[in-house]
Amino acid sequence: MPVIRPRRLRQNAAVRALVAQTRLHPRNFVLPVFVKEGATAPVPITSMPGVVQHSLESLEAVAKECVAVGIGGLMVFGVPLEKDATGSGGTDPDGILNVALRRVRAACGDDLVLMSDLCLDEFTDHGHCGVLDEHGRVDNDATLVRYAEMAVAQARAGAHVVGPSGMMDGQVAVVRAALDGADFEDVIILAYAAKYASGFYGPFREAVQSSLEGDRSTYQQDPANLAEAIREIQLDLDEGADIVMVKPGLPYLDVIAEAAALSTVPVAAYQISGEYSMIEAAAANGWIDRKRCALEALTSIRRAGAQIILTYYALEAAEWLRT
Ligand code: PBG
Repeated sequence: MPVIRPRRLRQNAAVRALVAQTRLHPRNFVLPVFVKEGATAPVPITSMPGVVQHSLESLEAVAKECVAVGIGGLMVFGVPLEKDATGSGGTDPDGILNVALRRVRAACGDDLVLMSDLCLDEFTDHGHCGVLDEHGRVDNDATLVRYAEMAVAQARAGAHVVGPSGMMDGQVAVVRAALDGADFEDVIILAYAAKYASGFYGPFREAVQSSLEGDRSTYQQDPANLAEAIREIQLDLDEGADIVMVKPGLPYLDVIAEAAALSTVPVAAYQISGEYSMIEAAAANGWIDRKRCALEALTSIRRAGAQIILTYYALEAAEWLRT
């Protein structure tokens, strides 16, 4: 019996490149960005070294950089100066997010896919993803009304894609109907289909200056559950999602794989703030190799089945992949 030698296919970089099953490409990356109302210069986010809250000017500059480098898209989050109970800044055409969308769309046109976070948490004074009922609980159906308005406002402002991220039941169907009713049939819905109640969102809360007290466990999914994710993905497909997303990424590779197996539309994954910050913190201590680990995490998310990856490394990873 000859010795079977899998190592033959690992003998040098050229052979390894030839047989590599998974390849990253900048076109499949989406860069999440934060834009802060009133900022005149970028404001660093302490818990996410290298990531900033943009001014409108610096946002436009980074969007153009994404076009130049060939990044697939931009996901924009707004950081308003004022918040209220219903998150009215989210639907106001002059709210920071809508102003930012108009600006980027005017600057970049169709050269990159412009995506908008469709959620109220950045705009509510209580920090929840929806409006509250008289008992202080997130009111699903009242929130849907707000999401419908917000989707239309974002489409009007120039978003190619809206990303409902609040995990309300029925949100995709309501957003689709609202968009179609306002003649935005072409606006794409990126559904945060399986979004888990994760501790890894921590740094994001600083990034958007969230005022949340408590948690989101009554609307986001329990990390213990997989079947529930399949159910949520199926529901979003039935409601008309154009792309389904799993979030976070690395701790949920099994969920990504399930999504890829059952979805008839493209699957995205979000490598979230805490995933980024963990790599940054360990690398800053000299404990891991930053570039190597960032690319390894992205490759793993892709290998699991995500075709599109939202990542704070988008620009840098595009640079790394060129060299
Ligand atoms: C909700 C939203 C969150 C993130 C994206 N959209 C926060 C949350 O659900 O608490 C997190 C993104 C990240 O952590 O990078 N609008």
